[in-house]
Amino acid sequence: MIEPRDPYEPIPVEGELPEEEVELFGSYRALIPISVEGERCPVPEGTSVLRALQYAELKHELVKMDWRRYCWNDTDGCCEMEYRIAGEERVRIGLACRLAVRARLEIVRLPKGGRRCR
Ligand code: FES
Repeated sequence: MIEPRDPYEPIPVEGELPEEEVELFGSYRALIPISVEGERCPVPEGTSVLRALQYAELKHELVKMDWRRYCWNDTDGCCEMEYRIAGEERVRIGLACRLAVRARLEIVRLPKGGRRCR
């Protein structure tokens, strides 16, 4: 019997990435599936959640963020969001610009100024 694939398993990325993508997201070699308000979305490993949301907007059109709202450097809490780790009950509050993308991340509530598009 074939084991079902873990929906949170990283997806390897092969080949060269476009230069503009490397500038924004780094030279990632895997996409990490996260959940954004209930919708699964693979995002580059090694990025902050805020940067991953940029990827989700540009590549998947999953979210629309008001990018003018965010300072990008943890100065005024403007990117506060709610998240949990899949399988845990506890919902946590964190800053999307500080929190790193990780396996089993579920964004329960996007930062203010963000909304899911589908
Ligand atoms: S982007 Fe301003 S605190 Fe995170």
